[in-house]
Amino acid sequence: MTSSVHISWLYGHSNENVCGTVSAIHTSSPLFGIYCSICFPRCDDEVRAVPLHKRPDLVEACADLVNSEWQRSRGARVHALQKSCHEFPVCLVLLQGAGDGEKLLGHARLSQVVGHSGSLFVESVVVSKAQRGKGYGRTLMEAAERYARGRGFQRLCLTTHDKQHFYAHLGYVLSQPVQNAGAMTSFVPMEQTSLPSHPKVQTLLETPYKDVKGTPIFWMHKDI
Ligand SMILES: CC(C)(COP(=O)(O)OP(=O)(O)OC[C@H]1O[C@@H](n2cnc3c(N)ncnc32)[C@H](O)[C@@H]1OP(=O)(O)O)[C@@H](O)C(=O)NCCC(=O)NCCS
Repeated sequence: MTSSVHISWLYGHSNENVCGTVSAIHTSSPLFGIYCSICFPRCDDEVRAVPLHKRPDLVEACADLVNSEWQRSRGARVHALQKSCHEFPVCLVLLQGAGDGEKLLGHARLSQVVGHSGSLFVESVVVSKAQRGKGYGRTLMEAAERYARGRGFQRLCLTTHDKQHFYAHLGYVLSQPVQNAGAMTSFVPMEQTSLPSHPKVQTLLETPYKDVKGTPIFWMHKDI
């Protein structure tokens, strides 16, 4: 109901005013994507998530953004990002503005989960350093959820070394590991290492799981 009220309002007003409604509908309405397509010409501060394979001109900038957080050779990073495709993995980029003023705000990669056809694995979630703490991380995750829902998926899974409180704040809960087809393809339950000081139960403060390098990780998911 809220969405249809907004849409009828959108058609009747100037683009400048239309932009004022973005925050009101983009976090909750599946109509946001439709809104993005009908809002033309684009307003200066519009924030939107776009699959990277629809914007190949942004691959290099996106490689720099992801590398600013997780260092890897630029060539390897570009190569990985160029794999974004409709059939997964899908790299979503969060953009603001248009033309020369367009800004790359963030990135998240979605891939399929082996044995869980209703789930997608989200990783490499990053907001550019200059733009953190302004709500774009939430916007990016909500865009990823909306995208996944629009593609027929019901759950997003993820791992994190240290951002479990951020994800919990966005509605993610601790969960069992799943095998994903993304970059982090394996996990080792820490209890199998038989180190007695390690916890057996996952909480937001402690985890029995670790990644392939042996660093503790938290597993989380959200039903979307
Ligand atoms: C994690 C990251 C994506 C968050 O993006 P951000 O733009 O800074 O976060 P936002 O401003 O959108 O925060 C959204 C909400 O989460 C909260 N939040 C942000 N970081 C948090 C944290 N570490 N713990 C708890 N809550 C947190 C904010 O207070 C905000 O709450 P509100 O919407 O109720 O006001 C960003 O800090 C980042 O890119 N970090 C480096 C890469 C990284 O670690 N990615 C995660 C890999 S698992």
